[in-house]
Amino acid sequence: MINFKQEIARQISEVTNINWEELENYLEIPPETKMGDYAFPCFKLAKTLKKAPPAIAMQIKEEIKTENTAIEKIEVVGGYLNIFINKKLLVENVLKEIDEQKDKYGYSKIGEGKTAVIEYSSPNVAKPFHIGHLRTTVIGGSLYKIYNALGYNTVGINYLGDWGLQFGKVMAGLELWKNEYDLENDSINSLLKIYVRFSEEEKQNAELTDMARTWFKKLEDGDQYTTKTWEWIRKISIENYNKTYKLLNSKFDSYNGEAYYNDKMDDVVKELEEKGLLKESQGAKIVDLEEYNMPPCIIITSAGTTIYATRDITAFIDRVNTYKFDKMVYVVGAEQKLHFEQFFKVLEKMGYGEYVKRAVHVPFGLVVDKNGEKIGSRKGNSVFLEDILNEAINKSKKIIEEKNPNLEDKDDVARKVGVGAIIFNDLYNSRIKDEIFDWDTILNFQGETGPYMQYIYVRTKSLMEKANYVPDINKVNFELLQEDEVIDMAKLLYDFSNTIILAGEKNEPSIIARYLINLAQKFSTFYNNNKIIGEDKELQEARLYLTYACGTVLKIGAGLLGMEMPNKM
Ligand code: ARG
Repeated sequence: MINFKQEIARQISEVTNINWEELENYLEIPPETKMGDYAFPCFKLAKTLKKAPPAIAMQIKEEIKTENTAIEKIEVVGGYLNIFINKKLLVENVLKEIDEQKDKYGYSKIGEGKTAVIEYSSPNVAKPFHIGHLRTTVIGGSLYKIYNALGYNTVGINYLGDWGLQFGKVMAGLELWKNEYDLENDSINSLLKIYVRFSEEEKQNAELTDMARTWFKKLEDGDQYTTKTWEWIRKISIENYNKTYKLLNSKFDSYNGEAYYNDKMDDVVKELEEKGLLKESQGAKIVDLEEYNMPPCIIITSAGTTIYATRDITAFIDRVNTYKFDKMVYVVGAEQKLHFEQFFKVLEKMGYGEYVKRAVHVPFGLVVDKNGEKIGSRKGNSVFLEDILNEAINKSKKIIEEKNPNLEDKDDVARKVGVGAIIFNDLYNSRIKDEIFDWDTILNFQGETGPYMQYIYVRTKSLMEKANYVPDINKVNFELLQEDEVIDMAKLLYDFSNTIILAGEKNEPSIIARYLINLAQKFSTFYNNNKIIGEDKELQEARLYLTYACGTVLKIGAGLLGMEMPNKM
């Protein structure tokens, strides 16, 4: 596809003899479309050309070719050039590219030959699947797909919290109350209830905590019965998570969690010792980080056990060796910021600085209700992600029953709309903001929501169905697609690839979510103002092709967020 920015830079380069790469960097997007598609600030060249910016502007305008080139028109405003691109060329290029690339339109190769590791979801086994894990699962799942579209070899890791005192608690709870629960048929719920009950009762009764410690110690010592039980809990938990992951289209290439690193930490502790980084402090072994104004990173507690940070450092080094990654993205809540800063620093001191530079903690805000109150924090009121998704599906089904009772495959549509709505709500605002979880907004078919975007997509689909053919791109007369709203849409379609690149650079799926709402709204305006089917054949073909292109991009973009699109709704 033609790269307009580059093309313009090359043309300016021809008349100024300054290399085009430099010029490309200077090109700006003007604040308003009536000021052109690109603007060039001539004062950047004043020193080199030894001329005043307005004179430079005049000269470039006069000498540049605008006949049959990427540039249609240039205006001089003081020291600025306002540059208007060739609209026919734009429309033609975009639509031909979509025709060629089909469902890979917008993908690029900037990550080719590189590996991106995305660590996300990572729930704590045996503990409730906290609603915060919805966010990491959805944001991480989207980033996984975005990096993939950028051409990276992408590795998804679910760093399960599958080791820790929580297992001791569940095992102690099992010892005490096993017979009160239906472990056979309702195992995952029973385990969860036992964990929650144990955590409650332990507050009044310190003996319980000792009991949990004893059980965990047994697990650490490799006791056979305890290990078997641990394996069983881990297994049924993963089975349960997988139901949710399937609904959300989350994909993982590895489930190596904290437990996987149990027998690998000794080496790392040794390495720390050899490099002279460990210090004794109140019986614990720490890495001092005072020079960075950070609290020390504890490696071995005074009780002689390793901790969360020890495992993270070990996992990092293991991933360096396994994947030689070019990027490692940790999708973890903002409350763990300090933890990441600390263990990144420790790794730097150990000599892994090159790899630390490639790693980034991608934090996100809390999930709150519409009054701003944190959801899912109340004890005993734990939320299963699967339940939330099912609720969304049921609610969508009700809406569909009301609006379109004769729709085929209602269950499938309800699943796509319900799950899509949850995903979209999570991704629409920049991730660091708290997510407001409010059913009325999430499932609103109007406004900036998933269902709205799907609804517009369905419109493109039904237009195509009504026409019953996709026009042959070679027969499309691009000159007929020149209205302002069409050009606006074509420009957005043109920007899709850059949008994906930006979303990847900033690890921010909301950039794509916002783009999609923008595109859907533009299509809606186009659709409301123009007859698409029933116009004279040539105009119909042109508008129909644009409709098809818009639907294609909406679907690709939604897919990058993890959403599926219904064909009808
Ligand atoms: N299991 C942790 C939790 O739920 C998240 C793990 C985050 N990842 C990491 N590498 N520490 O809080």
